[in-house]
Amino acid sequence: MGETAKIILDGKTYEFPVIVGTENEKAIDISKLRAQSGYITLDNGFGNTGACLSAITFLDGEKGILRYRGYPVEQIAEKSTFVETAYLLIHGELPTAKESQAFSDSFTAHAELHKDMLNFFQGYPSTAHPMGILSAMLCSLSAYHPELLNPEPSPQEIKILAAQLLSKVRTISAYTYRKMNGLPFVPPRKDLKYIPNFLYMMFSTPKKEYKIDQTVVDALRALLILHADHEQNCSTSTVRVVGSSWANLFASISAGVCALWGPLHGGANQEVVEMLEQIKADGGNIQKYIDKAKAPDSNYRLMGFGHRVYKNFDPRAKIIKQKADEVLKKLGVHDPLLDIAMKLEEAVLKDEYFVKRKLYPNVDFYSGIIYKAMGIPVDMFTVMFAIGRMPGWIAHWKEMRENPDSKICRPRQVYNGKLQRDYVPIGKR
Ligand code: SDX
Repeated sequence: MGETAKIILDGKTYEFPVIVGTENEKAIDISKLRAQSGYITLDNGFGNTGACLSAITFLDGEKGILRYRGYPVEQIAEKSTFVETAYLLIHGELPTAKESQAFSDSFTAHAELHKDMLNFFQGYPSTAHPMGILSAMLCSLSAYHPELLNPEPSPQEIKILAAQLLSKVRTISAYTYRKMNGLPFVPPRKDLKYIPNFLYMMFSTPKKEYKIDQTVVDALRALLILHADHEQNCSTSTVRVVGSSWANLFASISAGVCALWGPLHGGANQEVVEMLEQIKADGGNIQKYIDKAKAPDSNYRLMGFGHRVYKNFDPRAKIIKQKADEVLKKLGVHDPLLDIAMKLEEAVLKDEYFVKRKLYPNVDFYSGIIYKAMGIPVDMFTVMFAIGRMPGWIAHWKEMRENPDSKICRPRQVYNGKLQRDYVPIGKR
């Protein structure tokens, strides 16, 4: 046995193997702890608990490093396409030209929704949150593709599932936006690539076809790439947990969308812009909001700051901040929210409370400013995050399902409720 960890419990010494990853991350394999000692571990929020071995994404929170299958995210964001990044995350290698073309063609083949699914949109009020619709529609794809619900899907079935989800997430998102804004659906075109097709479905009108703006396409390319995966985050862990019961990929992804919706996770990008709007309405008084977040008994958080893993700059935030500046200049948009965001970041990075807690801007802090400049409404921001994260969710589900050692996720607990007691009839309580 290599390096081990010894734990002494009730005077008895237990020894457990130490696992070392390819980036020298170390873990104690406690899979036999309960069988040998009767003890379990407790780890609120799983901040110290590894759920699995994974070869998809490596991140180092202390050094602000993020790599997709070994490639630095900075290089991928600068040189790759979203479709190519999706292929890399899902299949482990960058595609050849032939593989890339086939992957892209599969999105064209699977872009349209079944005509009966279009009726679903009619049932939603125009005030419905797009994330609720997205989750429901993605799970409803299972009703129209019974041939893809095999509890032990073949590699070919997983390939088709991935193409269905990666392609249709655009169509569902665009149709949701159209429905919320009382606009007719614009079906996908066969001659447009991934991102232009999405923008076309979102913004074309019957009278005026959407003119593809390369600046917007490139900014969206970078944003979707930067959101594509982030190892065992809350929503990806949700997809893995649901998939571990052998639930189909549609159901697993639908659950991931619900986890992402939360304001502490993907919902933060919407919350950031709403917070910045509030600060603007409040005369740009950033200190008031910083003080509110620091107040000892306050639950108020500066949205877009802090991260469970990054205790340094989130590398994605740095690139998105640069993109925000570039895109707004190219689009000729002056958004006072960007000025407020930059002032807020500058003040926070100098404030002891945030410095001590290593709270830096995260991926959500600047992204909404770019979406806003593209004409994407605030309540669609987290949907944009979900479109970006789709390849990561699929890649992790596939990795988990292809692992012969993976088991159903079923954590233990420490019970701290009432001891045994006898039933008392209602008249005697
Ligand atoms: C994403 O995991 C991922 O990889 C996620 C993600 C991905 O790509 O999938 O990167 C995407 O979700 C980014 C995070 C987006 N969320 C937000 O911006 C919401 C605001 N941030 C936080 O709520 C918070 O920072 C979390 C949820 C992101 C992380 O929470 P943790 O790790 O549980 O940290 P914590 O709540 O234990 O906070 C530690 C301390 C606390 O103060 P003390 O109790 O020590 O006094 O830091 C404080 C917190 O109050 N704190 C904040 C804060 N975030 C943490 N104080 C003010 N503002 C904040 N934003």
